[in-house]
This record gives sequence, structure tokens and C-alpha cells, in this order.
Amino acid sequence: MAKLDERIGFIGGGNMAFSIGSGLIRGGIVKASQVMVSGPHIENLSRWRELGATTTDDNNDVLEHTDIIFICVKPHMLGPCAAQLKYKHVPSAKDANKLFVSVLAGTTLQTLEETFAFIGMSGLKMIRTMPNTSMQVGEGCTVYTGNAHVAHQDLEKVHLMLNSLGLAQQVPEPMIDAVTGVTGCGPAFVYTIIESLADGAVKQGVPRQMALQFAAQTLLGAAKTVLLTGKHPAVLRDEVCSPGGSTIVGVHELEKGNLRATIINAVEKSSLRSAELGKK
Ligand SMILES: NC(=O)c1ccc[n+]([C@@H]2O[C@H](COP(=O)([O-])OP(=O)(O)OC[C@H]3O[C@@H](n4cnc5c(N)ncnc54)[C@H](OP(=O)(O)O)[C@@H]3O)[C@@H](O)[C@H]2O)c1
Repeated sequence: MAKLDERIGFIGGGNMAFSIGSGLIRGGIVKASQVMVSGPHIENLSRWRELGATTTDDNNDVLEHTDIIFICVKPHMLGPCAAQLKYKHVPSAKDANKLFVSVLAGTTLQTLEETFAFIGMSGLKMIRTMPNTSMQVGEGCTVYTGNAHVAHQDLEKVHLMLNSLGLAQQVPEPMIDAVTGVTGCGPAFVYTIIESLADGAVKQGVPRQMALQFAAQTLLGAAKTVLLTGKHPAVLRDEVCSPGGSTIVGVHELEKGNLRATIINAVEKSSLRSAELGKK
């Protein structure tokens, strides 16, 4: 039994869209038959068809036939995509009920409203989100904010969808770019850390596959410990660093390599870049 009756659309069916859409279908929040996806190359949407969703190469089909529409194109494709829609779209009273959900990095609610001003003349309902691809395994982390036309029930529906794929949290819009460096880009940083941990183990003679599994599980365990105990990471680290032991020696190496400053810089640069990409 699906938890939402609305038809769900995706304009752009790439990685982020698929992480959300496939998760919603697998989690039973919507049925595949409620989902429609558009993209310029229909051959790139075969994984959606395998799930049972409808695909089209016309974005206007999604605009016409769905109720909650995720905009999942790259930020630089927003203008061309809106221009295609504007050319075909026939304004109607139904427009005011449609809810748009953007996943575009750095793209503000104001830009989104201006870009799609030709839809819903009396006020377009727009929610800006920053999700991440860990949604595909139900462990995503998404922040979101809505514009003035979004009703409480709209936010509740979007929260239900996003929270079913991990953690979802409403935040003030200015916080979204800041969070992007952690949640949107963070998975790539963490994959690098997992690979490095595994490389260290391989160097010590552990077979590669085993090393990767151990590294990923160690990260998962540490993350869960932070979340479930509520303890500060520094307290947890102190608990595993016995005096004169092997862990503190490794921690010292991380400090010598400036790991913390490097990660802080990475988050900062990614957040700034995200805001910059949205302005272009
Ligand atoms: N990936 C992440 O980790 C992540 C995290 C947070 C937010 N985001 C945001 O998610 C958005 C999509 O990123 P992504 O990683 O999913 O990129 P992606 O995999 O390249 O997906 C972009 C999709 O847009 C389609 N597309 C291109 N032009 C289009 C048009 N005119 N109309 C409709 N669809 C069009 C592409 O289709 P073709 O391939 O057939 O050309 C492709 O399927 C970006 O705005 C990004 O900022 C991504």
C-alpha cells in the first residue's frame, strides 16, 4: 500500500533522481506506476523502466501528468530546461496545486521562482533541497526549505518522502549551501577515507576485498556510535586511545598530516563552489 497518492515526476533521471525515486518505490512510499521520469536521452532511462516507472523524452509530460515534480538536472541545465517547458506549457488552474522540489546545488528559491515564473501565475510552490546519493541505501541526509507558497501539508509530504530515505531536516535557506559541503559532497570525502583505510590495510598484507569491507564497516560502526551514544567524537576517540597504545600513534600521524584542517578546508571549498555554481 503506497503511502502517498500523488503522482511523482522527475525532470532529469540521473544519479540523484534515481537515488530518490528508486528508494521511494522500494520503500513503498509510492508505487512505480505513480512515477514518471523525463530526460533528453530515453535510452539512459532504462533502469527506471526496469523499476516499472514511465519514461519520456518530453519534460512537459512530467509537468502535465504529475503532482510533485523533482527537478534533477545539473544547475547549468536549469535555464535550457525551463525554456523547453515554457515553449510547450499551456498555463492552467492545475498549475497552482503542483509542488516543485529542486535538488540543484547552489540554486536559490528566488532563482527557481524566477526561472519557472511562467507556471502557476498565482504563485509557484517550490521546495529547495540538498539531498545526497546515500539515499539509494536508505541512509541519506537531506536539508530542505520551502517558499512562501508552500503549505504545511506540502512540507509534510516532502518530509515523509525524504525522511523515508534517511534523515531529513528543514533548515533556513541560508544554511543550505553551508550544509552542502558536508552532506552533498561529504560522501565523496568519506569514500576517499574508506579507500585510504583499506589501502593501509592492504599495505599491511590484508587482501583488498576484505580490507575494503573492514574499512567500510569500521566507518559505519563509528558513525552509528556517534549517532546512538550522542557522545562528542573527541570523547569517543579518547576512549579508544589507551596510553602508549597503537591508536594514539596513528592519531598522531593524522595530526602530522593535517587531516582535520584538510577536511575543514574541503567542506568550506565545496560549500563555496556550490553557491558559485548556482549563480552561474
Ligand atoms: N550527485 C550528487 O551527489 C548530488 C548531491 C546533491 C545534489 N545533487 C544535484 O542533483 C542534480 C543532478 O545531479 P546528478 O548527479 O544526478 O547528475 P546526472 O547523473 O548527470 O543527472 C542529470 C540528468 O539530467 C538529465 N538532463 C540533461 N539535460 C536535461 C534536460 N534539458 N531536461 C531534462 N533532463 C535533462 C541528464 O540526462 P542525459 O544523461 O540523458 O543527458 C541526466 O540524466 C544537480 O543539480 C546536482 O547539483 C547531486
